[in-house]
Amino acid sequence: MDRVKGKIALVTGGADGIGAATARLLAAEGATVVVTDINEAGAKALAGELGGMGIAHDAGSEADWHAAIAAVKDRYGRLDVLVNNAGIGAGIGDIEHQTLDDYHKVMRVTCDSVFIGSKCAVELMKGKGGGSIVNVSSIHGIKAAAHEAAYSAAKGAVRLLTKSVALHCARNGYRIRSNSVHPGYILTTQMIAWMERSANSADLNAALLAQHPIGFLGQPEDIANGILYLASEESRFMTGSELVIDGGYTL
Ligand SMILES: NC(=O)c1ccc[n+]([C@@H]2O[C@H](COP(=O)([O-])OP(=O)(O)OC[C@H]3O[C@@H](n4cnc5c(N)ncnc54)[C@H](O)[C@@H]3O)[C@@H](O)[C@H]2O)c1
Repeated sequence: MDRVKGKIALVTGGADGIGAATARLLAAEGATVVVTDINEAGAKALAGELGGMGIAHDAGSEADWHAAIAAVKDRYGRLDVLVNNAGIGAGIGDIEHQTLDDYHKVMRVTCDSVFIGSKCAVELMKGKGGGSIVNVSSIHGIKAAAHEAAYSAAKGAVRLLTKSVALHCARNGYRIRSNSVHPGYILTTQMIAWMERSANSADLNAALLAQHPIGFLGQPEDIANGILYLASEESRFMTGSELVIDGGYTL
């Protein structure tokens, strides 16, 4: 019940999917949750339900980060947990078909967001007892996907950026941990819609299942459970780690 009791947690891209499941679970385990998203109405609705704060926030925008962090500082005075969850670009193109413009858009929301967010969190957490930064990467941050050039690049960068932040914070005695989570295919609303839109939805489903030896695809709560662990003190000796939650995809 109280695994993150009393902590202030911010979840980016928190209005839907893995972010929303995470926000709900952190709140259920005692955290005060700040839900941020480009979908302002969605962020505010969920935050209202959870008794936290909802903020309109494009995670790729430095100005939006500064405004969001200022609002957190103003309302709560500190931040204990940052979940860099927002990310885009899955399934949108191989190296021959993806444009440089696509690449920059994906990098901005999927990777720049983690850089700016980590920078803001370190500034706010250091000197205040530390905290936990959890970055949602992907199986494609470990194993590349031919049809996802920019996404693989962005998620791979998030994986090592996480470790760089972890090392810097540890060496400086900040007591700030930084870890990454690597989900396999998760049945979010967007993912289900994508599978249903596919020309041969049954074949796609079978192909995805074949890539997950465990025999089923994940639910947002499967990832939220891992994020909760990394946010809580139960993982106090973990930093720079990769928590792979993928039904065996990367084996
Ligand atoms: N769903 C999967 O199968 C899967 C697998 C591996 C990794 N991931 C990663 O997990 C994270 C969450 O994925 P999801 O499938 O739950 O996402 P999603 O596509 O369901 O989107 C979640 C939320 O992100 C918000 N969002 C989109 N662009 C944003 C931006 N610029 N700034 C702030 N918010 C923004 C959306 O409005 C939405 O509410 C992403 O980083 C994704 O790459 C997902």
